[in-house]
Amino acid sequence: MAFAAEGVAAPLVGLHGRDYLSSADGSAAETAALLTLAAQLKSGDRRIDLGNRVLGLIFTKASTRTRVSFQVAMARLGGQTVDLNPTVTQLGRGEPLQDTARVLSRYCDALAIRTFAQQELVDYAHWASVPVINALTDLEHPCQALADFLTMLEVHGDLPGQTLAYIGDGNNVAHSLMLCGALLGVNVRIGCPEGFEPLSGVLEQARSLAQHGASIEICTDPVKAVAGAQAVYTDVWASMGQEDEQAEREAAFAAFCVDQALMDQAAKDAIVLHCLPAHRGEEISPDVMEGASSRIFDQAENRLHAQQALLAALMGGL
Ligand code: CP
Ligand code: NVA
Repeated sequence: MAFAAEGVAAPLVGLHGRDYLSSADGSAAETAALLTLAAQLKSGDRRIDLGNRVLGLIFTKASTRTRVSFQVAMARLGGQTVDLNPTVTQLGRGEPLQDTARVLSRYCDALAIRTFAQQELVDYAHWASVPVINALTDLEHPCQALADFLTMLEVHGDLPGQTLAYIGDGNNVAHSLMLCGALLGVNVRIGCPEGFEPLSGVLEQARSLAQHGASIEICTDPVKAVAGAQAVYTDVWASMGQEDEQAEREAAFAAFCVDQALMDQAAKDAIVLHCLPAHRGEEISPDVMEGASSRIFDQAENRLHAQQALLAALMGGL
């Protein structure tokens, strides 16, 4: 089966030197192998030394988990990070991306970038000669999805045939869950209000990538979306950059709070996931957030293990 420990390195060798801009940038075998390696690194069954390699962090938006988990992941791998906040580099004064990307490639072994437009990330990847990693854009959050499915794997065992229901905005997190879930053979149901659906192009792409007969569905009824699901996931209603839409979105999403009544419609042993940061009382009720089904803080921890696996694969440390 795809998650067997033996032969992990074989599919991952192909990721050496590649970019990870989208959850679809790994094949089904590579994505499954990343989760296996992440679990081995977490349990201590595997140790990897990247030999003093350096990851550059270019973050245009705020971050706690992604920034710190990349910093700690590199430290655990025997490497280090450099903070390249655009406000303190010449980027903030208008130095062109094509120059910045080429210069930073002479110092760093990979770049993790958090920004708004996916195209900016694609442009960095074009000009950089080292791997570029998506640390969140408006379109996708692929490192998050790796940690999310690692968490589901830990709780429920093998992933193919499991169902994850995502309740809320059809945003970056939803897009990566659809693509990564499809590759891992997980059924993904998105429950969102009309007008807040994921992009149709991402839906088509996820369906075309689906393994093990996984279905990728969108519905506007949160109860139907969670019915029988093994994991119920939510995210903020207004993402970074959408702060001025908060009031409008609170009204549109009022029926899409993950509370106990909604969790009662999921599978009996369903877990609750949230990428964080959370707005208690909006997309998730305080009792569900802190309840026995919540794996939200394991999920946050798993960012570290999943990203260690990804860094090792992209930098060729296997
Ligand atoms: N989930 C996540 O990406 O959190 P940060 O915004 O804190 O990095
Ligand atoms: N959708 C959220 C995710 C934060 C980790 C945002 O983009 O702000």
